[in-house]
Amino acid sequence: MAAYPYVTHDYDVVVVGAGGAGLRATLGMAEQGLRTACVTKVFPTRSHTVAAQGGIAASLSNMGPDNWQWHMYDTVKGSDWLGDTDAMEYLAREAPKAVYELEHYGVPFSRTEEGKIYQRPFGGHTTEFGEGPPVQRTCAAADRTGHAILHTLYGQSLKEKAEFFIEYFALDLIITDGKCTGVVCWKLDDGTIHVFNAKMVVLATGGYGRAYFSATSAHTCTGDGGGMVARAGLPLQDMEFVQFHPTGIYGSGCLITEGARGEGGYLTNSEGERFMERYAPTYKDLASRDVVSRCMTIEIREGRGVGEHKDHIFLNLMHLPPETLHERLPGISESARIFAGVDVTREPIPVIPTVHYNMGGIPTNYWGEVLNPTEEKPDATFPGLMAVGEAGCASVHGANRLGSNSLIDLVVFGRAAAIRAGQVVDRNAPVPATNVAQVEKALERFDALRNANGSTSTAELRLEMQKTMQADAAVFRTDKTLADGVERMKVIAAKMADIKVTDRSLIWNSDLMETLELTNLMPSALTTIVAAEARKESRGAHAHEDWPERDDANWRKHSLAWVEGNEVKLAYRPVHLEPLTTQEEGGIDLKKIAPKARVY
Ligand code: FUM
Repeated sequence: MAAYPYVTHDYDVVVVGAGGAGLRATLGMAEQGLRTACVTKVFPTRSHTVAAQGGIAASLSNMGPDNWQWHMYDTVKGSDWLGDTDAMEYLAREAPKAVYELEHYGVPFSRTEEGKIYQRPFGGHTTEFGEGPPVQRTCAAADRTGHAILHTLYGQSLKEKAEFFIEYFALDLIITDGKCTGVVCWKLDDGTIHVFNAKMVVLATGGYGRAYFSATSAHTCTGDGGGMVARAGLPLQDMEFVQFHPTGIYGSGCLITEGARGEGGYLTNSEGERFMERYAPTYKDLASRDVVSRCMTIEIREGRGVGEHKDHIFLNLMHLPPETLHERLPGISESARIFAGVDVTREPIPVIPTVHYNMGGIPTNYWGEVLNPTEEKPDATFPGLMAVGEAGCASVHGANRLGSNSLIDLVVFGRAAAIRAGQVVDRNAPVPATNVAQVEKALERFDALRNANGSTSTAELRLEMQKTMQADAAVFRTDKTLADGVERMKVIAAKMADIKVTDRSLIWNSDLMETLELTNLMPSALTTIVAAEARKESRGAHAHEDWPERDDANWRKHSLAWVEGNEVKLAYRPVHLEPLTTQEEGGIDLKKIAPKARVY
């Protein structure tokens, strides 16, 4: 093996990723005086959170009555009863506090006439435990909420003296005696290798939307945390649940926020019909995302799609007052013009359900501690390792996430991880010594990929994976598409052994970086399709045509997937049914969140 000298760094905490969750964790750690490094493959304010548009959910009651119990109920129902009750309670309870903290840190929220944080309706967010009208719960900074949050958290983290290592690509975790003790990184601009030893490593690497052909996710969303965890022999959880956002721009996949429907926009088919009224008579276009995406797909399948090929749907905003478009939705007006050539004041936007979010990920408890479940101990944690944000699975979104519950997940659980680290990281203990054998193992893998000389290019193999996932693990799934998809994905994954990297340099080598990213996407894609093939029911985003009903007796459980070579081993762990607090202590009435038919 070629020798790779490396630079070592010692920290209390190393956070990998600088999106909303990574920055909120970084800030919280640094505020408590923990020596904190944040390692990120892109400049922090270019992390994918920057693309989050519509807003962040919290029951502030600024626009009408609301409370955390209603938010929790909506989240439970949105999850199709697969979320963990304790984590969902934590999210809904802590959300207002987390948003007010953001406000005090300086996030420039849009305002009401009285100067309060402006909140808009979003799909699946209701009043009166789903019996009342839609609620305005989604706190917004126009349609650039993620952008506003990211810039604020980065500035605050710098103020607290967190140290940033920007454009460093995390290669592998360092595992020492059953504990995570650091991470090995490649510095992209000068080719040097860096070993970060730490008492706690926090993975905040985002989702793996790019396992699919058409996604709202940035090209950087390659499941790097999940890939490292899978290589470390730890499982991924609930990977079969992939969210399709109803309104990706047809052709480009660019997101048009659900806030557009929150502000009064609606969908129509080729007959000009507002078809959501038929499927979801109460909440119509503001039904939950999985529901709206399925209805759009049915309309297209039944020949009522729009356009030359009748393969998409129209989103209408023409009737909205110009000031609403200007003040509340300026970003999407621009996106529609650039990516669809549409003037939203005159024409509808062509949209199609597009891959947007991964409900599954690295299993954690609600403190962000990574789980290493066994049958006897389904909640056992893996020391030294946390995961937050889309990379993690706490699990608050279960089988389907509600819009605007993602940004709140980032900050609530980024903050929770920092609180927990403050309790468990011993500031006076020495930082773990460099585990030379583990570093060498990571560098051997790096070197093998750098010199890979097979016959399949990374771009070809990635495309094959993306097309397969798009076709076989789509909005609707069948036994046949999934079984075919599993076989295809195993063949595709095996081709990693035949990969060809043409550029051998260590500096700004995008060929090598994309190959490393593909080694992270591949386990995500494989576990997604294998877990989907195994789940014989329909729940949330997993709409199985051969098993159209939800089956709580047999399937109200989390899937766990371990990657072994190109095979996936599956097991299951129980959903947490216990809340954090009893009704007597002020908690939710459990009868309110008992499973029932999920209609909107
Ligand atoms: O539609 C949106 O603005 C996306 C928000 C989300 O995914 O939470």
